[in-house]
Amino acid sequence: MEKIILEPVWQISDTTFDKLYPERVRQLSGKHWTPMEIAKKSARFLASEPGSKILDIGSGAGKFCLIGAYHFPSSVFYGIEQREDLYQVAVSAKEVTDSQNVHFFFGNLTQFDHTQFDHFYFYNAFYENLVSDGQIDQLVPYSAELYHYYSRYLYNILESKTNGTRLVTFHSLEDEVPPCYQLVDATLDLNLKMWVKR
Ligand SMILES: C[S@@+](CC[C@H](N)C(=O)[O-])C[C@H]1O[C@@H](n2cnc3c(N)ncnc32)[C@H](O)[C@@H]1O
Repeated sequence: MEKIILEPVWQISDTTFDKLYPERVRQLSGKHWTPMEIAKKSARFLASEPGSKILDIGSGAGKFCLIGAYHFPSSVFYGIEQREDLYQVAVSAKEVTDSQNVHFFFGNLTQFDHTQFDHFYFYNAFYENLVSDGQIDQLVPYSAELYHYYSRYLYNILESKTNGTRLVTFHSLEDEVPPCYQLVDATLDLNLKMWVKR
């Protein structure tokens, strides 16, 4: 019975998937949450070996993690999100979909232990610091200084990882990508890029 209800959530479209979310969060989807096909393609690259631990940096409502976890059950997907309401929405969606191999954390990346994760997904989480409108809300501080601070923080994390670490960026300005990451694949529009640390 549960499967009959849930199957369309994963298989049909972003509009269907987004019905997991409350209206306000659904309205943000087109601009702020990863589209389903991009999530699947990214997760396929990141989940290349069984048992890998994949971290979504700025996991929002959990869309990337939930879709990745459904399609790649032998990997574990984690999300760190600075907005508590979005973290709660992600946890609710995990419960409703009975997703086992996904875990969400509330907090700022800069206060989070990143050492246990193998591969990383990054949908331009820090860009909200560079624009004057279109942000998710006005509940967190924004500034160009924060953009540079967060980008450098993530750069250092990525640089510290072992060779073979995989990274997917979506709509990134690439300030957080160290030169030791080699571009191995990209979509034609260059919005989605796949990298491996060499
Ligand atoms: C573009 S949304 C992407 C959401 C999700 N990764 C997805 O693809 O569906 C970026 C998210 O990053 C979060 N974020 C931005 N800076 C952050 C930080 N320093 N630590 C944790 N989360 C952050 C924002 O609150 C927002 O929810």
